[in-house]
Amino acid sequence: MKGFVLFLVCFSCFRHGFSSTDPRDVSALNSVSNQWRNTPPSWKNPDPCDQWEGVNCSNSRVIELKPFNMDIKGSLSSDIGNLSELQELDLSYNPNLEGPLPTSIGNLKQLRILRLINCKFSGVIPDEVGTLPNLQILSLNKNQFVGPIPPSLGQLSNLTWLDLAENRLNGTIPTAENEAPGLDLLVKTLHFHLNKNELSGNIPSGFFSSNLVAIHILLDHNNLSGGIPESIGLVKTLEVLRLDNNSLNGIVPTSISNLTNLHVLNLANNKLQQMPNLTGMQELYSLDLSNNSFDSSEAPAWFSDLQNLRTLIVESGNLHGEIPETLFAYPYLQEVRLNNNQFNGTLNMGSNTGQNLSMVNFQNNNFTSVTLSTSYNNTIILEGNPVCSNPRLETTEYCNQQQDGNRVPDSTGRCSRPYEGMLLCRAPSFSGNDIPGNLPSMRDRMTARLSGIPVTYQIPGFSFDEDNYLRVELQICSSEARYFTRNETLHWFDFTSQNLNLDRRIYGPCYFDPQIYDYGNKVNRGLIIGIAVGGAAALLVIAGLSTYALWQKKRARKAIILANPFATWGSNGEEDGDAPQIKLARYFSLDDLRKLTNGFSEDNAIGSGGYGQVYKGMLSDGQLVAIKRSRKGSMQGGLEFKTEIEMLSRVHHKNLVDLVGFCFEKGERTLVYEYIPNGTLTENLSGKRGLQLDWKKRLSIALDSARGLAYLHELAKPTIIHRDVKSSNILLDENFTAKVADFGLSMLVLDAERDHVSTGVKGTLGYLDPEYFMTQQLTAKSDVYSFGVVLLELITGRLPIVEGKYVVREVRMALDVQEEVFYGLRDIIDPALLQNTRYLVGFKRFVGVALLCLEESSASRPTMNDVAKEIEIILKECEPKPKENYSTSALPAAYFGIARDGPNPTSDDFAGGSGLNSGAGYDGDEYLLSAR
Ligand SMILES: *[C@@H]1O[C@H](CO)[C@@H](O)[C@H](O)[C@H]1NC(C)=O
Ligand SMILES: *[C@@H]1O[C@H](CO)[C@@H](O)[C@H](O)[C@H]1NC(C)=O
Repeated sequence: MKGFVLFLVCFSCFRHGFSSTDPRDVSALNSVSNQWRNTPPSWKNPDPCDQWEGVNCSNSRVIELKPFNMDIKGSLSSDIGNLSELQELDLSYNPNLEGPLPTSIGNLKQLRILRLINCKFSGVIPDEVGTLPNLQILSLNKNQFVGPIPPSLGQLSNLTWLDLAENRLNGTIPTAENEAPGLDLLVKTLHFHLNKNELSGNIPSGFFSSNLVAIHILLDHNNLSGGIPESIGLVKTLEVLRLDNNSLNGIVPTSISNLTNLHVLNLANNKLQQMPNLTGMQELYSLDLSNNSFDSSEAPAWFSDLQNLRTLIVESGNLHGEIPETLFAYPYLQEVRLNNNQFNGTLNMGSNTGQNLSMVNFQNNNFTSVTLSTSYNNTIILEGNPVCSNPRLETTEYCNQQQDGNRVPDSTGRCSRPYEGMLLCRAPSFSGNDIPGNLPSMRDRMTARLSGIPVTYQIPGFSFDEDNYLRVELQICSSEARYFTRNETLHWFDFTSQNLNLDRRIYGPCYFDPQIYDYGNKVNRGLIIGIAVGGAAALLVIAGLSTYALWQKKRARKAIILANPFATWGSNGEEDGDAPQIKLARYFSLDDLRKLTNGFSEDNAIGSGGYGQVYKGMLSDGQLVAIKRSRKGSMQGGLEFKTEIEMLSRVHHKNLVDLVGFCFEKGERTLVYEYIPNGTLTENLSGKRGLQLDWKKRLSIALDSARGLAYLHELAKPTIIHRDVKSSNILLDENFTAKVADFGLSMLVLDAERDHVSTGVKGTLGYLDPEYFMTQQLTAKSDVYSFGVVLLELITGRLPIVEGKYVVREVRMALDVQEEVFYGLRDIIDPALLQNTRYLVGFKRFVGVALLCLEESSASRPTMNDVAKEIEIILKECEPKPKENYSTSALPAAYFGIARDGPNPTSDDFAGGSGLNSGAGYDGDEYLLSAR
């Protein structure tokens, strides 16, 4: 044993004698490492260049010293300045490395990279750092530096990356004046990260100039005051600007809208006085203007202009009035947080909410009613709005953010000795709700980064912290389930470069902040591994818990909303209070109804039908209602009636006539509907109401009613088949929005009538689906057939059966695929349509849809949803062409949707796939012609 030790010593002597490292560097390194504890074991060897982990040499000279994340403790010796050929010094992630940064650092004239991220260095940043002519990257973030930013840093003419974030720096941002340098001279610097310090004073106007090429300027979380300088508009390269969490006041300069490359703008938590004008900032993805001192204003016009927004946050923005519904249709929009404002009236989310939208927060506003989009099933927070004061709404998810129970995440698949840490991204362009959506791309990039290295990695959790920085947990595991060596981690996981090669437009500037790694060679190994793994597991469980809880919460909410059949609610004008009410059907007594209708007087009667008499009445709040009183004996029994009423009262859609209430008393079965002022489609087509519906109006009526029916078929629970679709059951409101009426009624009536009408078939002659008639098998496709007849009515302006002629047959016979403009239907078209034009935009496609609906076999007919999509496309062609092509890009998909769902039409119909295709091309010409 003794001999062996002796041999080792001699071996060391021997090696020493032939050291490949320059003696000046050996001596400097020894001096540096003597002040450190817990250096890598390899540092006991005599030849740094050859043997020390984290030391790299060239021609016997040390050019790189980068023992990052080695848990080295101690302070940095001033002899570091003697490593005169050093080009890269990276001591990052040694959180117990403390004391001042020696001024001798200024002797390292070859230094290109100085990184001391997440250590415990303190004292001032020495002026001498500014005398390193070759310095390109300076990252001193996450230390305890105090004092001012040395103006000398402005001399670093090769600097591309300046990161002084998360220290305790104070004083002002230095700019050049009177021969003294300043940060404005850093004309190669892409990144100015000065966030999370104690900087104060104004942001100097001279800081920004057209000489800067900065893409990221982070000044958030400081004590800056005064106004935002007009000169900000000169830095046209800017992609991310965070000035949030300061005390900035005054008015945001209009020049800000010159920043047309800006993706992320955060001005939250300042004292800015006016809602800025951001019109034209088309590249903006993420915007936060919360908690300023804005004057009261309406939603700014640019709410309807910034098409690329992912995140819009204006909490406590002193905003009132209505919200433009176009906002919710932005294609990329993920998150809208406009809580703590005074938005009032109706929150209308429109029917085309963007695909990616997942969070809408209007907590503490003044909405008295809400119209939700049927296409939106994600989170909506309305707590603290008057619309929530109704006891029935109070308990719903919308008005009551639930606390979800914690669940322990499933930790299987986690490796036992991960090299782990946090990826920190300081200005992500997406929202907290869309982390799952952006994770795959992060994974792809990590995979690329780690390719060729025998590791696996996992991203077990992620969250946005309170400062809106994205934190992604990253665990890298050896594929052999062993500890990594220092050499491996130093070479493989050199992520400290801050250049993780993540897409900066998506993630903003990111860096990796690894946890201290136990390389597995501690004395009491079992115990330490136990603690390390246990500790890491505990950490993971805690981190996982919170993200998992969030995720669960979101999922739970989603589930609840999905199960909730409400699409719309709002005030129904309860007589007994100002509190707006959820639109559930209310109960009317027979006396109420008598009062409303002057005792069912003839003067109030507005019509009659198979169902009974219809009366008009006015509720105490002025709302007009249509009261349908059934003939005695035509209705079913009490329990069924109530069940149906409950079901119908939950069906709300802007294209369906709303059930306001009902009466069930003494054999009375009465339904109270909203009153629709402009009468039926039949009346309007006949010209009886003195107004001609033009082509576009007819298209939009078709679209409205198709959407109403699609809702009944696909979103109402249980599914409702109308059974009596016809033009006289389509009503037009004051804006000529079409609303489908009397759905469900036929069903209500049917059971009672079954005794009298032996056949179960119910419907109206001329609209009746022949297949249903023959098989008595009712499906939603029967409504589709009837709707096809309505579409033909829209073209011809006539009822389906006139003088014994059936419009479906007439159209089929007249059809001439060869005829270019009207496909041979010129003589059947309602003359009113052709008064002012020789073309009808999308006519062929429209006829095509109608004929598909009228296919003999119900299986060949499209669904109502497909029909709605196709009509929507036709209608869009009537609009002026959009600037962007995102709406036109939806076109082929919707078209093929029809082609796929409804199998190819028979050849005697013209509407084959190719027919529609050429029709589409032709419609392009039509557009040009009709645009003249
Ligand atoms: C906002 O800016 C745009 C374009 O610069 C301008 O057209 C518009 O009038 C401005 N709006 C207001 C309210 O000042
Ligand atoms: C919304 O509030 C404003 C004043 O804050 C008021 O003028 C307006 O009439 C309100 N609108 C509705 C629909 O209540």
